[in-house]
Amino acid sequence: MPPGYTFLQSLVRTYKQVKDPIGTMEESMERFDGTYAVNLGLTRMIATQDPGFIDHVLRVNHKNYHKSPIQTEQLGRFLGKGLLTSNGEYWLKQRRLIQPGFHVDKIHGLYAIIKKTVDGFLDHFPTGKQIDVYPLMYKLAFEIVINSLFNVRIPIEHQQQLSNFIREVQEFVIKEVRQPHKNWWFKISGEVRRNLIKSANARRIILNIIQERKESHQKFNDLLDMLLESRYEDNGEPMHDDQVTDEILILLIAGHETTANALAWTLYLLATHPKELNTLRSMTAGLTVTECVSNEALNSTIRESMRLYPPAWITDRVALEDDEYKSFSFPKGSIIILFYYGLHRDKRYWRQPEVFSPERFYKKNLDKLKTKAFYPFGAGPRLCIGNNFAMAEMTIFLQSMIHRFEIKPTETTPRMNPLVTLRPDSIILTVIKN
Ligand code: HEM
Repeated sequence: MPPGYTFLQSLVRTYKQVKDPIGTMEESMERFDGTYAVNLGLTRMIATQDPGFIDHVLRVNHKNYHKSPIQTEQLGRFLGKGLLTSNGEYWLKQRRLIQPGFHVDKIHGLYAIIKKTVDGFLDHFPTGKQIDVYPLMYKLAFEIVINSLFNVRIPIEHQQQLSNFIREVQEFVIKEVRQPHKNWWFKISGEVRRNLIKSANARRIILNIIQERKESHQKFNDLLDMLLESRYEDNGEPMHDDQVTDEILILLIAGHETTANALAWTLYLLATHPKELNTLRSMTAGLTVTECVSNEALNSTIRESMRLYPPAWITDRVALEDDEYKSFSFPKGSIIILFYYGLHRDKRYWRQPEVFSPERFYKKNLDKLKTKAFYPFGAGPRLCIGNNFAMAEMTIFLQSMIHRFEIKPTETTPRMNPLVTLRPDSIILTVIKN
């Protein structure tokens, strides 16, 4: 095993980590040179920000790794069995089925929906000296994903219910993970049951939309059409309505908060770096949506923002069999924690890692080392299926936002709130119409 903490030290650290997960991990990474072991009795854990080790787990020997029960069973109780919450044969079958619908060419067909949603949203964007843009980005990301899934009007109260459910269920699962000693209390106090009821309500809303769509016999050119039209390779059958419901819930949850966080942090970084903001404006005036999506300056700005504030700041895998990497060997059942946040700010791979510099992602400045030390969308077979969609919506939004509005910093500095994703507590900016 890599060097690390004894059983007692690990217990103390777990307590510290509840209070400050990122700070505690950064401290340990510094002490143990990027990879360390945590000993929690029967559970063996290794945390790493070594890009080679991450590559080994996600790509080179990916067959030996599954997602942990936290990501599959604990989230799956509320979200069902979809791409994000399954492993093995079932995951592979679903991935093969859904992947073609997220191909760049298919996403191109959604640009018009994205652009219409962005324009409508910006028409009513509030201006003033103290605007918290985080809840606004949360709302926008939800509107984009829901409009792309269902290109029809969904009643506002249903949208609200779905959005609240997604937020609350993540908060609850994180609470369970961080305070496992209280799990008995969550059960008897009825909190688990309340979340299961919310989940059943969310599923009912989605199931109704699916059934209405099937009865309408119309085409809407959205992600729901794609899910309903896809057929399994082996038997040519479509998914059951329950499976479509699971996958829709997963797409809503996976594609909502991650994007909202990335956009909110990007606006904060640009507001606090007027030079970079002006350069971006000068390089993106008058672009069409297709040009936005391929624009190097927009893409690099968003990538640099996700380097500093990766929405998916951490993930995990469980070793199915004994494995080894370099001089380490570890038994089956070991949990490997991949600490992307730490890697993205590691001095060994990034020059002046604390500095916001979109130019480092320009093609002319990229080298192999950097591309191997950057995992905003994960890697390997479980790479984010929505990465092209996410980059499209974010570039289209960012271009419109910076040309329609001036953004300036205020005295409030956002704090990181690392839950399932890396949320800011708030992003308070001054927003002025251009
Ligand atoms: C900035 C936005 C986004 C970020 C940073 C992000 C990041 C990620 C990461 C890191 C993973 C892999 C997790 C792991 O390996 O454990 C992932 C998986 C996934 N993402 Fe995204 N994502 C984003 C947007 C989206 C969008 C817009 C969608 C869909 C509309 C989406 C759907 C998914 C799904 C379904 C998976 C599971 C894929 C699988 O396991 O086969 N994501 N995402």
